[in-house]
Amino acid sequence: MSEIWIQPTGGALGADVHGVDLRQPMSDATFGRIAEAWGEHLVLRFAGQKLDDPSLMKFSARFGELDRVPVPTAGFDRAFSELTEETVEWVAVISSVVKNGKPLGGLGNYELVWHTDMSYNPLPPRASLLYALEVPPDGGNTGFLNMDAAYEALPEDLKRAVEGKTCIHDSSRNSAGELRQGFQRTLDVRQTPGAVHPLVRLHPVTGRKSLFLGRRPGAYIHGLSIEESERLLNAIWAHATQEHFAWYQKWRIGDLVMWDNRCVMHRRDAFDESLRRLMHRTQIVGEPVLAG
Ligand code: OGA
Ligand code: MN
Repeated sequence: MSEIWIQPTGGALGADVHGVDLRQPMSDATFGRIAEAWGEHLVLRFAGQKLDDPSLMKFSARFGELDRVPVPTAGFDRAFSELTEETVEWVAVISSVVKNGKPLGGLGNYELVWHTDMSYNPLPPRASLLYALEVPPDGGNTGFLNMDAAYEALPEDLKRAVEGKTCIHDSSRNSAGELRQGFQRTLDVRQTPGAVHPLVRLHPVTGRKSLFLGRRPGAYIHGLSIEESERLLNAIWAHATQEHFAWYQKWRIGDLVMWDNRCVMHRRDAFDESLRRLMHRTQIVGEPVLAG
């Protein structure tokens, strides 16, 4: 039986899980320790793994039912992603690699702004698991924000202002701001398509409250004028995205990083377009969003 141990990053969130080979069958006891560490640290990194898609899917499924991959952006053809019939609906390819003029995966090499994955859906994923197959020597780091800490540290006036409020999460664009297939541009944020969620979210497992923000563009807080909504959104985004709530992952091949998509936002630095970066991602079906 393997000895696992948990090493916190020392930052605002995140921990390394040492001593597990995720290709091997895992006892309920080991899984229990991982689940507990996840509740405490919100982001877990398993370094030095050697995963193929079926083993990534199998480990992911310990955390719940696998969720389907997001709708791709216009012009992207999944047929070039080198996935199989068994994996194509469940594994998203995040890659800058272009093969025969076609992108192998989504999201290219540019910066991704702070976001929550697929929160424009009524049931946003509980978790995302991102596995590094190829990484650039430099750039393309992924930042994570502790939204529990961001909520707790809200100044009293902002805490009062967000209480009981709901917000639209824009479904028309991806985390790089690109329009998805089948969507039109919307200019009036009150008409933004997408799910409506409470701004303060209650975590069903840890019982903690967090700020639940999806993406800044297209967001609109119900019951406010556009100007008031913009002002409040700007204030809470400025608060929540402060560096002391963040921790950055510098990728190495074989890193699997999973985040709790209920209480963590993430972003990615840009990297040189001549460099290869190839990641495979799974996501876990979420539960109804509870208002905090
Ligand atoms: C994602 C994502 C960040 C990255 O896969 O949801 O935001 O570092 N990726 O590629
Ligand atoms: Mn993402």
